[in-house]
Amino acid sequence: MEEYGAAVMETADFLRDHLVVVPEVGVLTGTGLSASMDSLGADLALDYSKIPNFPVSTVESHRGRLVSGFLNGRSVLAMQGRFHLYEGYSPLEVTFPVRVMQALGVTCLVVTNAAGGINLDFSEGDIMVIRDHINLTGTNPLAGPNKEDWGDRFPDMAHAYDAGLVESAKSAAQRAGFAVRTGVYAGLLGPSLETPAETRFLKMAGCDAVGFSTVMENIAGVHAGMKVLGLSVITNINDPDAPEKVSVEAVIKTAENAAPKLDAILRGIVEQLP
Ligand code: HPA
Repeated sequence: MEEYGAAVMETADFLRDHLVVVPEVGVLTGTGLSASMDSLGADLALDYSKIPNFPVSTVESHRGRLVSGFLNGRSVLAMQGRFHLYEGYSPLEVTFPVRVMQALGVTCLVVTNAAGGINLDFSEGDIMVIRDHINLTGTNPLAGPNKEDWGDRFPDMAHAYDAGLVESAKSAAQRAGFAVRTGVYAGLLGPSLETPAETRFLKMAGCDAVGFSTVMENIAGVHAGMKVLGLSVITNINDPDAPEKVSVEAVIKTAENAAPKLDAILRGIVEQLP
């Protein structure tokens, strides 16, 4: 843990030397959503391979680049491409960027992802604002020694997704002319997709969407005292009674097409930040 903490500090120091401003908002983009931060007037773009201690994303639909800039006058640090447990990264590696953001002073974290729709009222291309999650990965980024200066041993998860940000996201979407859904995200380890029985189980458990990311970063963010907003692009609908093969290409395409909606929400919530 000491080594990990030192690596976080080293990376944060490196970035501080390169950043023009201290970032307030951190963004982690998911599958097919890297382009969602292209409208950021970026004053810095760094490939992960140039950043000390940064893991390198192995998923092709993830760009692997950190960008920093301004959105509606607020400083934003965005990671285009994230790390997943299913790639073989540990929970600590997956949440390394969140810890670096914490060290840099980020207080608001926006996490985006592509997700399968469990709620059959949803349609492909919908945006679901995450209201809550169920961590079904079987692991936790806080397992092991607790770094007291980072957060509590037993962080409260009653407000894991900030209610104010959920409202802010909904009204931002409305102002931009589209409606969003809200719901519960099931975070699985992956990479195998859900069987119909698993989908039925998730539905019974009250989940509206499912994916292989976000819950690790949310937990680390909450532990760090950040307000967290989660946005899922529903890229496919999983009906256990009429199961269809999930096409990864179609998932990426649907996610890419939704990027402007995510941008609109992001601009809107940044505008409303205190
Ligand atoms: N399951 C898990 N992750 C996903 C899905 C899915 O159906 N679609 C996009 N990401």
